[in-house]
Amino acid sequence: MRITLAEAASHLKHGDVVAVPTETVYGLAASLNEPSAIQKIYSLKNRPANNPLIIHVASASMVSEYAQVLPPGFTELAQEFWPGPLTLVLPAISNKIPYIATAGLSTAAFRVPEHSLTLKLLELTGPLVMPSANLSGKPSATTAEHVENDFGVDFPVVDGGPCSCGLESTILFWNGSTWVVARLGAIEPDAFAKGLGYMPEVSIKGSQVPICPGQMYRHYAPKASLGLVHTIPDDGGEAVVGFSDRRYSSKRKLYSLGSSQEPLEAAQRLYSVLRQLDLDGVGAAIVDIDFPENGLWLTLKERLEKAAHSCSSDS
Ligand code: TXA
Ligand code: MG
Repeated sequence: MRITLAEAASHLKHGDVVAVPTETVYGLAASLNEPSAIQKIYSLKNRPANNPLIIHVASASMVSEYAQVLPPGFTELAQEFWPGPLTLVLPAISNKIPYIATAGLSTAAFRVPEHSLTLKLLELTGPLVMPSANLSGKPSATTAEHVENDFGVDFPVVDGGPCSCGLESTILFWNGSTWVVARLGAIEPDAFAKGLGYMPEVSIKGSQVPICPGQMYRHYAPKASLGLVHTIPDDGGEAVVGFSDRRYSSKRKLYSLGSSQEPLEAAQRLYSVLRQLDLDGVGAAIVDIDFPENGLWLTLKERLEKAAHSCSSDS
């Protein structure tokens, strides 16, 4: 059910959950001051309780209310990338943030999203926690229709059109001495070097426990099994996820990520394509991953690898 900004603000103030657009993916929002609404988010998504949520704020200046320190580089990063698809994980002032939002961690994640509607909403409501607005483990939502497909047509959603990035924010974690990339996202790691004066290390898998608890779980996955390939085989799979400027066997239906020269277009289409496979009841698809291993392509490849990988738990 599409709702106005004023209705969304009213729902949130009364402890309800609504879906809102951001530039990355749609988010399932609850007020940071409403622990019972935050609990509803976990139930609605079927999200593991040990996977914390990102606190979305209207401006960087609000972060100091909740963070113990603003580490070196914080101001430069915030100035260059906020509002925008960057999340910063900092030591938290624990008694200012409900336990359930941080899943009991001593840190908290912050982001100023770049969407005019949601920035206005944040000014009306104050900080909102927001995971991606999808059922845990499933592809994220990049349109209001996607949200309704997951949570029902009566679920309240502010329709802000299709998301301009199409992939989640990049997460940078302050480890006490440097910033570390803890989730690949819409901003490529190289982009941080100028503001920080060094290239942040990328630590997304880790040998044991990942920095972001969410990285432990299955993500972004359609029901269809996905086979990622550099060269398309003659047989196997009813469908191919690939590019409009490449030729594939006419035996398989093409689910197009757009031009093989346009990573942003592929990012914008990715979750719609994965969701369409399910809507069409596709059982198995071949995915063309013959693209460069850099920039936004690298994030796309990581998302596809997670979508293709079978784990027992979901996020
Ligand atoms: O683009 C985005 O970031 C979207 C939009 C809605 O803002 N949100 C999003 O939220 O992707 P979610 O919940 O799907 O993913 C948040 C990730 C999870 O992997 C979680 O484990 C991690 O952020 N995270 C949250 N708080 C953390 C913390 N204190 N330390 C480490 N990781 C944290
Ligand atoms: Mg998510």
